[in-house]
Amino acid sequence: IDIKSLRSDTNGVVTLDPGYKNTGSCESAITFLDGEKGILRYRGYSIEELAEKARFLEVCYLLIFGELPTEEQLEKFHNDIKAQSHVDEDVKKILDGFPKSAHPMGVLSSLTSALVAFNPSSVNVDSEEDMYKAIVKILAKFPVLTAWTYRKRLGLPLDYGDDSLRYVDNFVKMMFKKPSGEYTSKPTVVDALNKLLILHADHEQNCSTSTVRIVGSSHAGLFVSISAGIAALWGPLHGGANQAVIEMLEAIKEDGGDTKKFMAKAKDKEDPFRLMGFGHRVYKNFDPRAKIIKKAADDVLEDLGIEDPVLDIAKALEKEALEDPYFVERKLYPNVDFYSGIIYRALGIPVEMFTPMFALGRLPGWIAQWREMRLQKEPIGRPRQIYVGANLRSFVPIEKR
Ligand code: ACO
Repeated sequence: IDIKSLRSDTNGVVTLDPGYKNTGSCESAITFLDGEKGILRYRGYSIEELAEKARFLEVCYLLIFGELPTEEQLEKFHNDIKAQSHVDEDVKKILDGFPKSAHPMGVLSSLTSALVAFNPSSVNVDSEEDMYKAIVKILAKFPVLTAWTYRKRLGLPLDYGDDSLRYVDNFVKMMFKKPSGEYTSKPTVVDALNKLLILHADHEQNCSTSTVRIVGSSHAGLFVSISAGIAALWGPLHGGANQAVIEMLEAIKEDGGDTKKFMAKAKDKEDPFRLMGFGHRVYKNFDPRAKIIKKAADDVLEDLGIEDPVLDIAKALEKEALEDPYFVERKLYPNVDFYSGIIYRALGIPVEMFTPMFALGRLPGWIAQWREMRLQKEPIGRPRQIYVGANLRSFVPIEKR
């Protein structure tokens, strides 16, 4: 390699770091994470305390604007969101065009992009006021799109929420309202979802968030940046793991429940199988979110009087992994997605909707990171490369190849 080719025009040296394992892409004041000690804080507040005491919309406000809101600030924020909850009727036609078998993450990513066509003023955000308008719009419309995507799969009528309710209560009602309009609120369901959404709300520069920041850095609008984040989250190595975990646990159950057999598969380097829900790029001790979710899974199943045999399989796998040298040496612990699917299932949410639930939770984090990137006037994201291809070659006409 010609060393001169590694010099950037800012006179730095281009470093090669596949997967950005050691590269910081920005300065951020939103989320603090210590992977060795298993610490996660949003704007300085511990995730344990927020999951216990806060409401999801308060956490949205905290992440996006940096401070916990006062009663008045929260009320204004919620009112501004409610005023934007209408989704253009033509979006229903787009939704109708998707096959019933379409994965909801693909549908949601497309619908979120499509929102731009109906809200063109959301793209050019030259002031904080413009940003705020775009932010409340997406916070208002995304839960509607998520509920519609779910209801469309079940062939249920699509309608709007109930403005008298809190943000999460309203979302739960939009999801589960019967065609007759009948709906009974279940506090266990709302509380569990509130906690799960908070735990997923931000996680600094993960794959989907980095995607949102990099797409937004070209000054593409907020909605398409979020749409790209949804696509990134869909993958099984990222948010799609919550669906993959429950499918894996089901497969182990169907196979007779021999967890050791699947542990052996996960360790076999010839076998592409990985223990889904284990391992994390930054947590090398434990994922603090997984601890909270494991306890919540126990509580929710008990409250709802559900016995789920896959919970026992999950606990057995965790116990074996914690004692297994392969997992110990590589510091592979259960991550946020390991137990979340068990709760979603207990709440009556089908497996294909697990990753959309994650997306709804991560929405404020994506927004906060996009806003920070724009306010910091960050340059366009444009990584360099180390070229390892052919040297100059002469063109060969097709008949001579
Ligand atoms: N099962 C078996 N082995 C694993 C697993 C696993 N789940 N995860 C990592 N390993 C092994 C790798 O094979 C590798 O072994 P080697 O050193 O012998 O080659 C070593 O542990 C390090 O793994 P990497 O893939 O290099 O770690 P990386 O930081 O790149 O990947 C990731 C992290 C993607 C989360 C990975 O652990 C994984 O695929 N886990 C399963 C999918 C999952 O649960 N994803 C959700 C993550 S949380 C989130 O996104 C919300």
